[in-house]
Parts: sequence; structure tokens; C-alpha cells
Amino acid sequence: MDSIGHLLAGNKAWADRITAKQPDFFHHLAAQQAPQYLWIGCSDSRVPATELVDLLPGEMFVHRNIANIVVHSDLNCLAVLQYGIEVLHVNHIIVCGHYGCGGIEAVLHNRTYGMIDNWLRHVHDVRTKHAALLNHYRSDEERFAHLCELNVIEQVLHVCQTTVVQQAWKQGQAFAVHGVIYDVADGRLRDLGMTIDRPECIEPHYDRALARISS
Ligand code: CO
Repeated sequence: MDSIGHLLAGNKAWADRITAKQPDFFHHLAAQQAPQYLWIGCSDSRVPATELVDLLPGEMFVHRNIANIVVHSDLNCLAVLQYGIEVLHVNHIIVCGHYGCGGIEAVLHNRTYGMIDNWLRHVHDVRTKHAALLNHYRSDEERFAHLCELNVIEQVLHVCQTTVVQQAWKQGQAFAVHGVIYDVADGRLRDLGMTIDRPECIEPHYDRALARISS
């Protein structure tokens, strides 16, 4: 088996580049992290959270899983949310999906991969919920792209419905939840118009985001 020596060498070159520009960069970061952003994205290797928005270490708190799913019983995701909101006081929570997502594709084409099918059941639920909208599209490419978008919109909704977010808003904490989608084919992020910064916004903004997809 090949060693990971090239990764360690790459890491040294990377750290050297950063300290050449800013000698106290890591020393300063070691003392504390104060990111303004919490990112919930897919594990896909083509969607590197911090890198694609051109941020440095220390600027974004990150949670990733297959198909960027937020489930109310997932302690891992909930713990990241709670820490991001209550301890780090992030200003923005960003749910990022991406076109060409393998998890979404598996659901759309009813592929099975074993244990992970249980995780992807949550995407099946999104597909079932929006079956009428999806069936409206003739091409498979369109259905695939729109299911990727719909999944983001539903996960933004889930973030907003968590007790962590609901309680923080109730206590007057200011932060917004956003839904964006990344195109692995051109490296660009697109806003899905699902930005919510208080409970009253949830319903109208959800309806608006869905209307955009169906138009
Ligand atoms: Co993906």
C-alpha cells in the first residue's frame, strides 16, 4: 500500500505558504476559533466546504454527511448545530447541496447500496413529498437537478425546526439559515432563495423557494 508521505509533504508546504504570508497565523488560531459561518454540506470530495468559498482555517465551522441531510434524531449534526449557535455564536448557517450528488442519484434511480439505504431514506421522503413537482419534468437530468435543490430546501426547513434554532431565535439571538447549491461542473454556488432569520419567515420563504423550482 502506498504511504501518505506525499500528504504530509503537501501539508508542510501548505503551512509554510500560510506562515510566509502571515507568520503568526497558526499561533493566533491556536488560542481560539471564532467562525461566523456554520456549513452543513455533502461529504462528496468535489465539494470542499472552506475552499470553495475561499475562506481560511478558523473562518467556518463544518458538518458534512452524505447528501447534506439534517435529521432531528442525528446527535452528530445536532451537536454541531448547538455548539455553532450557543458557543460560537455563528451569524450564518449554510446548508449546501450540489448537483450530481451520488446520494440523490441513488434515490432517484432506486439504487441500493446496503446500510446507507437507511440514511438515504430521508431523501426518499423528500422525493415522495415533491413527487408531483418532480413528475412535471420530462428529462431525467431536470428531475435529478431539482431533487438536489429540493433536498437543500427541505434540510434548511429541518435546521429551522430544531429546538436549538427555535430556542435561540426565541431568546433573540440573531442569525440566518441559508440554502445554496454548488455546481461541480463549473465550481459555482447558487443561492436557492431560502434565507430564514426568524420563525415567521419559514413558511413564506419555503413556499417562495418551491415556487422558483416549479416555475
Ligand atoms: Co453529494
